Amino acid sequence: MRITMIGAGYVGLVSGVCFADFGHHVTCVDNVEEKVTALKSGIIPIYEPGLEDMVRSNVKAGRLSFTTDLAQAVEDADVVFIAVGTPSRRGDGHADLSYVHSAARDIAHAMKGFTVVVTKSTVPVGTGDEVERIIRTERPEADFAVVSNPEFLREGAAIADFKRPDRIVIGSEDERATEVMREVYRPLYLNSAPLFFCDRRTSELIKYAGNAFLAMKITFINEMADLCEKVGADVQKVAKGIGMDKRIGDKFLHAGPGYGGSCFPKDTMALVKTAQDHESPLRLIETTVSVNDTRKRAMARKVVAACGGSVRDRKIALLGLTFKPNTDDMRDAPSLSIIQALQDHGASIHAYDPEGMEVARTMLKEVSFGESPYQIAEGADAIVLVTEWDAFRALDFRRLKPLMNTPVFVDLRNVYPGEEVTRHGFQYFGVGR
Ligand code: UDX
Repeated sequence: MRITMIGAGYVGLVSGVCFADFGHHVTCVDNVEEKVTALKSGIIPIYEPGLEDMVRSNVKAGRLSFTTDLAQAVEDADVVFIAVGTPSRRGDGHADLSYVHSAARDIAHAMKGFTVVVTKSTVPVGTGDEVERIIRTERPEADFAVVSNPEFLREGAAIADFKRPDRIVIGSEDERATEVMREVYRPLYLNSAPLFFCDRRTSELIKYAGNAFLAMKITFINEMADLCEKVGADVQKVAKGIGMDKRIGDKFLHAGPGYGGSCFPKDTMALVKTAQDHESPLRLIETTVSVNDTRKRAMARKVVAACGGSVRDRKIALLGLTFKPNTDDMRDAPSLSIIQALQDHGASIHAYDPEGMEVARTMLKEVSFGESPYQIAEGADAIVLVTEWDAFRALDFRRLKPLMNTPVFVDLRNVYPGEEVTRHGFQYFGVGR
């Protein structure tokens, strides 16, 4: 199969590289020249474990190439995936589809022979219809079909998620296109990943419904954590106890500082807007969005309380800045709101993150960055663990304590059993325990 991937962002790059690794011929198109030049020489613009090696080996094997020339790449393709960004539109929270629509126009003018156009970007219900309409208007005689095929991979585990997904959702209303999609995914379903076929609108909604449900699950356990603190229960055990019920499941029940990242915040918001537009409001998701928003600043208040009620002129050491481990992504990271709120309370912030500091430096003002947990702990009045990087799972508390001004440890990810930290003379504060 000759596959063209439009957009070499997270989803486009990972999907393109994995398809190439499965033996397809893949061309990734991006309009940012420097990105394409870097990718050609095997330098990838994001931090994702294992991706760089896979890019290099597939480029070397001649199955993967990068270009800015969309027309040429589309002309030769059997399947064209649209994997461009769909950010939140400024002002109203709807998904901004301008990149998707512009890709559709460019594809229309370049395609030759029967071409399957696949929306892989997360797009609101009805976008497939619009892509079809755009292509039909631009090229009335074109032979094509539009398919929806959302991607469910998680950052930091992207390759494993892509190669061994729980399911592959394909929204297709054209038999030829369905056959082409079967061919594209043959290596994966040979890996026993089930293909789930449905109509295009259903497929588009599955992606949003899935993300909204997971966001709601996290928010549920976060609120439960607050209640646990009030009534003297342990949220980790509550999560375990309910998660053993197969109808509930044990995943996505880790209480923490609220969800962030490039998907959940923007997708829940876009779904809420779609539902409101159709006069079918999703009140559970509306509440999820607002509970999650307020949670981040509430975490800062937790730190203030741990410091005895004030952090004015105190030094707070933050471990972890990215929205989750194994990524350098800072989009909607809880750390951003927590830092802002602590600064509003008069604290001075010192931070360390294994991969996120380069991006964080461009986003955060008046934060001083250190090179290790121990460096930022010097003279600190509290350590706050915000992102559960593996590197923070075996801190040397004996070394940390004498460095600090006051030994307070706020563990927003419940990484440590409290007793392990208090044994070293720290005051320990977890979430929901
Ligand atoms: C998510 C979806 O999981 C994925 O299917 C979709 O394609 C894109 O969005 P991602 O944003 O990469 O993936 O990360 P994920 O691991 O889902 O975590 C999202 C956020 O939820 C993070 O901020 C994480 O810390 C938080 N989270 C997750 C919790 O607070 N508790 C949990 O139990 C799980």
